Amino acid sequence: MRISHLRVNHLPEPLGSGPGSPVFSWIVSDSVSTRQESARLRVFRDGECVCDTGFDPELDALGTELPLKLEPRTRYSWRVAVRGELGDLAESGEAFFETGKLGEAWLGRWIRAESEELCILEKTFRLEGEPEKARLYLTGLGLYRCFVNGLPASDEVLLPGLNAYDRWVQAQAFDVGRLLRRGENRLEIWLAGGIARGRFSYTPAGDYAYCPYDCAVAELHVFGPAGETVVATDDSWRWRTSPILESSIYDGEIWDPGRAVSEGAAVLCEPPVGPIRDRLSPPVRIVEERKPLSLLRTPKGETVLDMGQNMVGWLRFPVSGGKGRVLRVRFGEQLEHGCFSQANLRTAKAAFEWRCDGKERTAEPFFTWYGFRYALLEGFGEEVRAEDFTGFVVSSDLERTGSVVTGHEGLNRLFENVLRSQRGNFLDVPTDCPQRDEREGWTGDAQVFADTACFNLDCAAFFGKYMADMLEEQAGAEGCVPCVVPFARRRSRGFEGGAVGWGDAAAVIPHTLWLHYGDRALLRRQLPNMTAWTEWVARQTDWPAVCRHFGDWLALDRPEEPAERVGKTDIAFLCLCYAHFSARLTAEAAAVLGESEASRRASELAETYKRKLQRDWFTPEGDILCRTQTACVLALRMGLAPEEEHIRRTLHELLAETGHLTTGFLGTPWLLEELSPKDAWDLLLREDYPSWLYEVKLGATTVWERWNSLTEEGCFSETGMNSLNHYAYGSVCAWFYRRMCGVEPLPEGPGFRRFRWAPLPDRRVGFASCRLRTPCGEICSEWKYEGGRLILSLTVPFGSTAEARLPDGREGSLPAGEYRFRILLPEEHKNGGTDA
Ligand code: BGC
Repeated sequence: MRISHLRVNHLPEPLGSGPGSPVFSWIVSDSVSTRQESARLRVFRDGECVCDTGFDPELDALGTELPLKLEPRTRYSWRVAVRGELGDLAESGEAFFETGKLGEAWLGRWIRAESEELCILEKTFRLEGEPEKARLYLTGLGLYRCFVNGLPASDEVLLPGLNAYDRWVQAQAFDVGRLLRRGENRLEIWLAGGIARGRFSYTPAGDYAYCPYDCAVAELHVFGPAGETVVATDDSWRWRTSPILESSIYDGEIWDPGRAVSEGAAVLCEPPVGPIRDRLSPPVRIVEERKPLSLLRTPKGETVLDMGQNMVGWLRFPVSGGKGRVLRVRFGEQLEHGCFSQANLRTAKAAFEWRCDGKERTAEPFFTWYGFRYALLEGFGEEVRAEDFTGFVVSSDLERTGSVVTGHEGLNRLFENVLRSQRGNFLDVPTDCPQRDEREGWTGDAQVFADTACFNLDCAAFFGKYMADMLEEQAGAEGCVPCVVPFARRRSRGFEGGAVGWGDAAAVIPHTLWLHYGDRALLRRQLPNMTAWTEWVARQTDWPAVCRHFGDWLALDRPEEPAERVGKTDIAFLCLCYAHFSARLTAEAAAVLGESEASRRASELAETYKRKLQRDWFTPEGDILCRTQTACVLALRMGLAPEEEHIRRTLHELLAETGHLTTGFLGTPWLLEELSPKDAWDLLLREDYPSWLYEVKLGATTVWERWNSLTEEGCFSETGMNSLNHYAYGSVCAWFYRRMCGVEPLPEGPGFRRFRWAPLPDRRVGFASCRLRTPCGEICSEWKYEGGRLILSLTVPFGSTAEARLPDGREGSLPAGEYRFRILLPEEHKNGGTDA
């Protein structure tokens, strides 16, 4: 038996990470047993055991919350021992977690520079002895980077993370012991506006979103032979002007390292915003380095770097000599007619400018990011070389958990594109897009993509932070969910929220996390999101009319009004569907948590909506009055169709009538799921417009916002709103896991304690194989055609059971183990088609 993946609050060895109460989880593999009979958790502080659960059959490997009284700024270690049902036993190695400030008062004070320019706050100090251990606790707004003796305090970027700063500010803790030395030392905190003070969100006025000035608070605790030394922010700190002249997440940065520096004494300032709390965000890091594919000369004579694929992050390049020379890089996603284009960025300038000071330096931006494949180079001269540039891909650093490979190259490309769009838009916040003047945590996009997201990457902590932020927003809005989270109230008028399918993120995401991760403590933290939203909806006497709705966003079912973005599915219909769905998910969550009163109330609401929907939107014969593909999909998916088979036929007919899919953001995620296996495969494999493979065929390397973001000639089809990196339609990948490979998490055994295994093989694709690192361990599912046979195999991890249904109709429960099945194909199937 082997025990691995020791996590606290779903993070490996977190340092200074909240929330206060730790939830422990682990994975068992290589055991003769199939499940855990009991486990024992021990927590230590300074080698002394502060908690020993003894062997307890109730300890849950998917999430065990212990009632520990934790001290601030303290390191704990822990181990878990597991006994299998056959008596085998193992103990894990030791893992640690370390608390941050918890609720402790800060010794550091908020400080800022007395300057209108971008500045660096700094402090020089002496350490008498050789430092043995040091921890730096800090935060700063808008964005900060901290250097200790000229070296980065951490490999994380875009700190302190992006969240609802008017409600709380995340503080980080870093181990900086290795960077300090006896004698003189220096701390520097570089600041720029980020989303707090810089340009952000929709209101055009130059008003700041969260905070009128850049500021920081820090305290460094150094332990050495002479005891503890604390260096905290106060008015003994100094400021100097930064080499960064301008910084904006949308427009990019201008650097002038040779500029004249002014400086002065830092001043204490009011805590600008919400209270400081220990971070919840998983780290944002450079997760990949890429070299350009080529350097192009365009028909217009432009010099353009091609990174080979759409990416999110920035470029680094060396600079030498040329005092007074100005280098400019502009970032874009697409060449139009072979030339550089920023036509889809709206007002975002997406540029980087470097004013050379004659010295050898490395140029790279600090506080912005770009969504780009191409970079237009200006001022670099003839001698510029592609190999001088390195692309840094930036993302929340989440563990890859899922992959699907098939025998179809287009599907594999689609899958990779979706993953790339997820990485590029999971930048502390699940954003809609990474390139134009938006980059916001749109709730609807996150909601429809959450299921796919949780298959691909371990998103428990990532969405945990997003939902904590959402709850903060809901608390200030009587349960209503803003269109975007975090919601920059001062700059986002008109987006206060409540939109159907968008606000429902408050119920759908917690449910999705429960299904994927089975962590009861996480669900308990998020039940308030669910109930607050459900109650807000219940209080609306006319929900369709009270707020701005986006409906089945960007659907294609209004061909007569091509400029209309809200699809044809009636808002009133959608409101009843989602009111029912969210209430039902809330009722289920409350029931799991033993909140029977809350559960009863929510299921009553759900029933009321269902009755009303069936009365208003279906005929006595079972016909649906809202005749769109999305309406059928949602009615089926949400269990709202009085006559399911009838609506399935209607969906099939609607598809045949238009000859293609027409669904938008709300219908697309479940479209394939609700079609017959044959219709689903046929649709997935289509390459003509509109389809998922259409964009793959046109060379897409990320998922487009619209089915037709580009024309066949590769030009933007409509420049107003056309991101080439928008994950919503990538939600189709859930079907790859759930249906194609047949691995579907079941609510009766969340966290893959129980899952259905019912693959839908299709001969045109030849084989499909999926690996999924679930909270129980790794599931592998594979099918392939070999001669006249279909071979299927499955690995069920420890502590998990598969409810298998094979394409030939065989059924059964499979406990942990490895399985292989062979099906002789009937003659008529040998020439193609779906064998499910
Ligand atoms: C965003 C979307 C979002 C939508 C809401 C757009 O500007 O990019 O993805 O969900 O607005 O209507």
